[in-house]
Amino acid sequence: MSPPISRIHLTGANGFIGRAVLAGLRAAGHEVSGSDLAADPDAVPLDLRDRAAVVALLAAQRPELVVHGGAISGAMLATDDPARMFDVNVAGTLNVAEAMRRAGVSRLVFLSSNAVYAPAPTRDPVGEDAPLGAADAYGASKLAAESVLRAYAESHGIATLALRISSVFGPGRVTPYLVSQTLEAARRGVPIEVTDARSNMRQFVHVQDVVRAVVRAVDAVRPGFTPVNITGGTYLSEEEVVRLLLAPVGVPPLTVIASRGRHDDGAVGPLDLSRAAALLGYRPRVDLASALAELACPPGPLT
Ligand SMILES: NC(=O)c1ccc[n+]([C@@H]2O[C@H](COP(=O)([O-])OP(=O)(O)OC[C@H]3O[C@@H](n4cnc5c(N)ncnc54)[C@H](O)[C@@H]3O)[C@@H](O)[C@H]2O)c1
Repeated sequence: MSPPISRIHLTGANGFIGRAVLAGLRAAGHEVSGSDLAADPDAVPLDLRDRAAVVALLAAQRPELVVHGGAISGAMLATDDPARMFDVNVAGTLNVAEAMRRAGVSRLVFLSSNAVYAPAPTRDPVGEDAPLGAADAYGASKLAAESVLRAYAESHGIATLALRISSVFGPGRVTPYLVSQTLEAARRGVPIEVTDARSNMRQFVHVQDVVRAVVRAVDAVRPGFTPVNITGGTYLSEEEVVRLLLAPVGVPPLTVIASRGRHDDGAVGPLDLSRAAALLGYRPRVDLASALAELACPPGPLT
C-alpha cells in the first residue's frame, strides 16, 4: 500500500469548491498549496492555459498529489466562447498532466462532472460504466479532459481518480444556478420558472459532501484511471427543489415549463454511488431540505 499523502497542490483554489476543499484537506492534516488565476493568500497566480508556467510551478513544488479543480465550471458559462472552455478545461488539463509527468508527480484527483454521461432514455441508476457522450460544450470539455487523463494514466502511469460530481450547492457558490437564481427572483418578486420533471431532473450535492469525497479520494488513488460518481443522494424535479428552498419564506406560484434544452445534471438517471461507497467509504451526509432552508434563511446573529 502507498504511504499516506501529505503534500498536495490544488488548482482552482479560489473557486467555490476549491476554497472548501483547501480548508477540508488542511483540516485533514495535509500540507496544501493552491493556484488560481488571481493571487490570493491561499493561491499563487497561474493560468492553466500557460503550459510553461504550469510546468514550472509543479517542477518547483513537486507535490505528492494534485487535485485539479481549476476550470470554467458549468454549461451556462462561456456559451458564446466554447474555445475558451476547451482551452481552459481540456488544454489546461493536458498542461497539468504533462507538468506532472515532467515533475514525476504520479497521483491526481480530478474534479470531473456527471455532464460526461450520454443522455439516457430511461431513469435507471447510472454507474460509471454507463455510456459517455456529453450533450453540451462543458460536458464535452470534461469528457475530453477525462480522455487526456486516461491516456496519461495508461502511457505515463499517472494514477487518476476522476470524481464525476453532480450539481454542487452551498454557501459561497458564485456561478449562477437554480438556487441563487430562485432566491434572487423571490427577493425581487419576479415570476419563478422551473423546468418539468420529465425533462430536467436535478441531483444536487452539498459542497461539504464534495469536500469529504475529495479528502477520502486523495488516499484512495490507485493505478490507472478510475471514475467515481459523487452526488447527494436525491433525485428531484426543479419544482421540488424550489419548493424545498422557498418553504421557509413562502412559495409563490411557480411557472412550470418544458426543458430549455438544457439538462443541468445531464439527462440521466440518478448516479449510482456503489463505487464511491466501496472505494472511498463515501455516502452523502448533508440533508438537502435543511441545507436549502439554511440558504434561504442564513442563520444570523442572535438579537
Ligand atoms: N459547481 C458544480 O456544480 C460542479 C459540478 C461538477 C464538477 N465541478 C467541477 O469542480 C471544479 C470547481 O468548480 P466550481 O463550481 O468551484 O467553479 P468556480 O468557478 O467557483 O471555480 C473554478 C476556479 O477555476 C479558476 N479558473 C478558471 N479559469 C482558469 C485558468 N485559465 N487558469 C487557472 N484557474 C482558472 C477560476 O478562477 C475559479 O477560481 C471545476 O473543475 C468544475 O468543472 C463543479
